[in-house]
Amino acid sequence: MAERIDGKQVAEDVIAKVKLLTSQLLASTGVQPGLAVVIVGEDPASQVYVSSKSRKAKECGFKSVQHTLAAETEEKELLDLIASLNADSEIHGILVQLPLPAHIDAGRVIQTIAPEKDVDGFHFINVGKLVTGETETAFVPCTPAGSMILIERVRGKDLSGLNAVVVGRSNIVGKPMANLLLAANCTVTVAHSRTNDLPAVCRTADILVAAVGRPQMIKGDWIKPGATVIDVGINRISTSDNKTRLVGDVDYAEAEKVAGAITPVPGGVGPMTIAMLMANTLSAASLAAGLERPSF
Ligand code: GUN
Repeated sequence: MAERIDGKQVAEDVIAKVKLLTSQLLASTGVQPGLAVVIVGEDPASQVYVSSKSRKAKECGFKSVQHTLAAETEEKELLDLIASLNADSEIHGILVQLPLPAHIDAGRVIQTIAPEKDVDGFHFINVGKLVTGETETAFVPCTPAGSMILIERVRGKDLSGLNAVVVGRSNIVGKPMANLLLAANCTVTVAHSRTNDLPAVCRTADILVAAVGRPQMIKGDWIKPGATVIDVGINRISTSDNKTRLVGDVDYAEAEKVAGAITPVPGGVGPMTIAMLMANTLSAASLAAGLERPSF
């Protein structure tokens, strides 16, 4: 049976470190990390995510501000808000929750965030740093950054000689994940919906990262025996008793019989995402105070 990778526990370890370093930063420099979270519209899932981010920031000892704008807000108003947050010395991290309403150009909004406050790691400057291997100074998107910590817990920091397959090519998860694995010396394949014989490609993976958003798509016989499996998917499915439950992109019951280690859903990658947002915000505040960024 595969080792179950306890993302909840690892995330708690990260948060404990963030809390400790936050109190030390405040005591030594007077700087309190500040996170601004911006949401436009009433999407219920986004509202849940945003309030848990704001709550966790408070718990870490951050200044936490949330800006909730109406769905019909003009793009200009949002850009003006970001400009004022860019100029606010008490704010070190800015997160604009996606998706944005269709009349707003999300790309333009993201590129307006000051790169040194871009704790989501979506600005071209941070994307470019990650792609060119400047992982020491880049802000890395939170879900792949958290997935990487889970992989390191199983495999160590140097992944030389290992084959990694990332299923999914989104800008938020698949592409940055592939670049992190490459920076750690993996041989990386990015697979997606147009890949031929996806099961055969997955079977080459010593490290398999699933980020496709299709419930339980990856079956046990797609997995190389002993592989490390990181399941980024969070899908709600109906069960036979008219209830719902969360499942990943991997068929866990099958996969745990073959894999060496695997993340569960829930309780795997999910808790790491929010923990890394806190870590990135602390890093932004430390850099703003002229200190080195902490490592996680
Ligand atoms: N919507 C879904 N995931 C994310 C994320 O990681 N960051 C932001 N800003 N919005 C999201």
